[in-house]
Amino acid sequence: MLNRVLPFVIFVALSCVLNGRGQQDESTESVDGSEIIGPYFDANIPQNVTAIVGKSAFLRCRARNLGNKTLAWLRHRDVHILTVGSYTYTTDQRFQATYNKDLGESVLEIKWASIRDAGLFECQISTQPVRSLFVHLEVVVPTAVIWGAPEIFVEKGHMINITCTINYSTEPPAYIFWYHQDEVINFDSARGGVSVITEKADITISHLLIQKADLADSGRYSCSPSNADVASVRVHVT
Ligand SMILES: *[C@@H]1O[C@H](CO)[C@@H](O)[C@H](O)[C@H]1NC(C)=O
Ligand SMILES: *[C@@H]1O[C@H](CO)[C@@H](O)[C@H](O)[C@H]1NC(C)=O
Ligand SMILES: *[C@@H]1O[C@H](CO)[C@@H](O)[C@H](O)[C@H]1NC(C)=O
Ligand SMILES: *[C@@H]1O[C@H](CO)[C@@H](O)[C@H](O)[C@H]1NC(C)=O
Repeated sequence: MLNRVLPFVIFVALSCVLNGRGQQDESTESVDGSEIIGPYFDANIPQNVTAIVGKSAFLRCRARNLGNKTLAWLRHRDVHILTVGSYTYTTDQRFQATYNKDLGESVLEIKWASIRDAGLFECQISTQPVRSLFVHLEVVVPTAVIWGAPEIFVEKGHMINITCTINYSTEPPAYIFWYHQDEVINFDSARGGVSVITEKADITISHLLIQKADLADSGRYSCSPSNADVASVRVHVT
């Protein structure tokens, strides 16, 4: 088994090196008199893919007129062959290709994506020379973002309204804690007039509302969702 597979891997690797200098591809087809030269990439392949850290990243490659050629995925950074057809060559268990020969499609899954996985990936068709398509993977960390940060100015007696969104989150947070300086905001405190409105939609938005701002309400406010990095803003009551 390995004896049959290894020469092919070397062939793919060599083809990669020789890319652009190899001989003409032989798999030419004639349809209605017009010539279609071998396999080609589907025009709709997403070339910028965003994945959330800790979740699966999916890179999709699809070729038309693939014939008996196959699709391979390489990591561009170290020219590491990850998958060829439905075989996974990397020892990193997080990489897995789902290969559909009939559709001419190869979906590379990277489980538990990390920031280090970000970069260029290359989908190759095993023609001579190989044909390549580059897919850029971005890995993002869910982050809280406060509107108007880093500083908000509020007139004494007016309402403080601090708005926090949770970007790059696939699911709403289980909870959001709000802090004033380093203390969790207590909505039952003697101060009164403090409330939070949270809208859980595609993007979760939380508003901290403090009525009748007083000088003592100045300071740093932080929004800390269960599933994202914390965000802070400095409020000046003037
Ligand atoms: C992909 O991202 C790069 C850089 O982030 C950008 O220059 C390019 O236009 C993007 N391509 C598409 C198809 O969105
Ligand atoms: C691929 O197909 C071509 C033409 O259809 C054929 O000549 C060639 O032998 C095939 N190659 C393999 C490895 O099956
Ligand atoms: C607080 O500010 C946000 C963003 O400007 C706004 O959408 C929201 O309606 C405001 N809430 C109140 C109670 O004023
Ligand atoms: C966070 O998401 C909001 C709403 O989509 C957007 O307006 C804002 O630019 C995003 N901020 C960052 C830092 O991605």
